Amino acid sequence: MMARPKQQSLDLSAYTIPTHVAIIMDGNGRWAKRRGLPRQAGHRAGAENLRRIISACVEFDIKILTIYAFSTENWGRPESEVRGLMKIFARVLDQEIYDLDAQGVCLHHLGDLTGVDPTLQEKVRRAIELTKNNNKLILNVAFNYGGRAEILHAVREMLADGITPGELTEEIFSSYLFTAGLPDPDIVVRTSGELRISNFLIWQAAYAEYYPTQAYWPDFDREELYKAIVAFNQRERRFGLVPDEE
Ligand code: IPE
Ligand code: IPE
Ligand code: MG
Repeated sequence: MMARPKQQSLDLSAYTIPTHVAIIMDGNGRWAKRRGLPRQAGHRAGAENLRRIISACVEFDIKILTIYAFSTENWGRPESEVRGLMKIFARVLDQEIYDLDAQGVCLHHLGDLTGVDPTLQEKVRRAIELTKNNNKLILNVAFNYGGRAEILHAVREMLADGITPGELTEEIFSSYLFTAGLPDPDIVVRTSGELRISNFLIWQAAYAEYYPTQAYWPDFDREELYKAIVAFNQRERRFGLVPDEE
């Protein structure tokens, strides 16, 4: 029997583990281009990597992982690329969901499913139903998601519910977002060296620590996630206050 390659042991016992990690999975296209491959090969490699990162989150005892999979703006890409991405989402939902279920992953969707192919919608709903009682890791998939669209959606629902200006609080507002009931992200990782937020969790990440990294998403592995957690521990989160010693 072939021995499994031994994973490097990464000790996180001395560190605070962020409860909620959010990732802008960027750079699939450039990863592929660098190898002379079509963009779709980069998206496939990105989907493969997601599997590894989910397992690493379970291993590191991260409780919530939110990933940006497809933005409201990504519909503007060439039709063939959008079609290719939808194919990958459908395949991941078909092939990976039982393994995710076995790992204790509870799937949530952030975004709007209307306008998405009905077969894909059905797969998402089934995956959510299948995993709804799992509690090892909450996996929020931001798919057809935009922070501005989310805020507009919340405002429309609040108006429909008759919430008055006097009643409205930040807590009530948060409870109308797709992330209702979940704590805000502690850290937002963006791969591929870009330094922008691209409409991701614009309300929820108000006090998140930002962690940009040069690695393209398909190369952002378990060790890169470990480095992000170590960097998070070196930050001083002040939330607008003064440091303790002053
Ligand atoms: C991220 O990789 C995946 C999605 C946005 C769906 P990109 O496709 O944006 O890759 P780059 O930024 O072009 O390298
Ligand atoms: C953000 O990446 C969206 C996702 C990762 C799904 P983009 O590649 O779409 O963002 P921009 O265009 O560089 O801002
Ligand atoms: Mg990109």
